[in-house]
Amino acid sequence: MRFLRKAKEPGAENLDAEGAEGIGEERRRKIEGGALAHLEADIHEAGGGWVSERIWRRRREPSEGDRERRRGRVIAVTNQKGGVGKSTTAVNLGAYMAMEGGRVLLIDLDPQGNASSGLGVERRQITRCIYKALAEEVELKDIALRTAVERLWIVPSTINLAGAEIELVSAMSRETRLKTAIAPIAGDYDYVFIDCPPSLGLLTINALTAAEEVLIPIQCEFYALEGLVLLMRTIQQVKAHLNPDLEINGILMTMYDARTNLSRQVVDEVAKLYPDKIYKAIIPRSIRLSEAPSYGQPIALYDGMSKGALAYQELAKEVIENG
Ligand SMILES: Nc1ncnc2c1ncn2[C@@H]1O[C@H](COP(=O)(O)OP(=O)(O)OP(=O)(O)O)[C@@H](O)[C@H]1O
Ligand SMILES: [Mg+2]
Repeated sequence: MRFLRKAKEPGAENLDAEGAEGIGEERRRKIEGGALAHLEADIHEAGGGWVSERIWRRRREPSEGDRERRRGRVIAVTNQKGGVGKSTTAVNLGAYMAMEGGRVLLIDLDPQGNASSGLGVERRQITRCIYKALAEEVELKDIALRTAVERLWIVPSTINLAGAEIELVSAMSRETRLKTAIAPIAGDYDYVFIDCPPSLGLLTINALTAAEEVLIPIQCEFYALEGLVLLMRTIQQVKAHLNPDLEINGILMTMYDARTNLSRQVVDEVAKLYPDKIYKAIIPRSIRLSEAPSYGQPIALYDGMSKGALAYQELAKEVIENG
């Protein structure tokens, strides 16, 4: 509710007094017309978010069973589209989940190794990477490295992983290698995040087979929905043939720019298509978020008061609640 509280400050009375449909057309018109420009600026400062407020109310209420904290939730951060914020989300959500008290393992399943470098892991520190677990059955506990964030560990990746996709094609149980690797350690963590590569190849299939939940980041830009149907179909196929427990936990809108109508339109569009899947937290476009990986730090350590940091913190709370 942070966005609401923030929005209610000067002159933005009653945003949450609106009905299930939330912010009405009239308010939207006023905002767009500039009558409440300061409100929009406030919300922008707070990290975007008002567009989805009304959608949030339509999400299902968690049942008692849902509320029971599950241990060892395995969450794949997936979208075959490149550069949509998968690694940024895996690193920063993982860090905030750990800071909220959970034990978190982040598995870097992308040969680009962005999640590894984003958490400050240097190439020379890596003696074994995730490739060893997939191809040679080395245990994940012997690969995981500590990070600067307490309770956050990373299983790093290197370019060696690029070969795995080809080598595993003819291997036995090729789709379940990651699942098998995670099984013995899943109980040691509250959350296992898997940062997927930008493809729907065997690595992503391994992630979807190992996970119970998928988190799909979508960039607020014109071609945002391109490929989404294919991704949804792939998830359905994995669910049907390999992993009946797989669910989409949520769709995360990233790189939201409150100054553009386009960002809002994309959020509205996704909300219309997937009203019960879209997260209330929306990640704003933020220079601080894009700078943090070059310092090898999650945003929580690099600039914990930036709007990107606050948005990922909100997301962490939401993911915990939705578990
Ligand atoms: N909210 C944001 N605001 C500004 N820049 C961002 C934001 N999120 C991510 N970026 C930047 O956008 C680029 C792509 O982000 P990221 O690497 O997280 O995407 P990805 O989906 O993991 O990419 P790939 O498909 O290549 O793995 C990076 O340079 C990152 O720093
Ligand atoms: Mg990435």
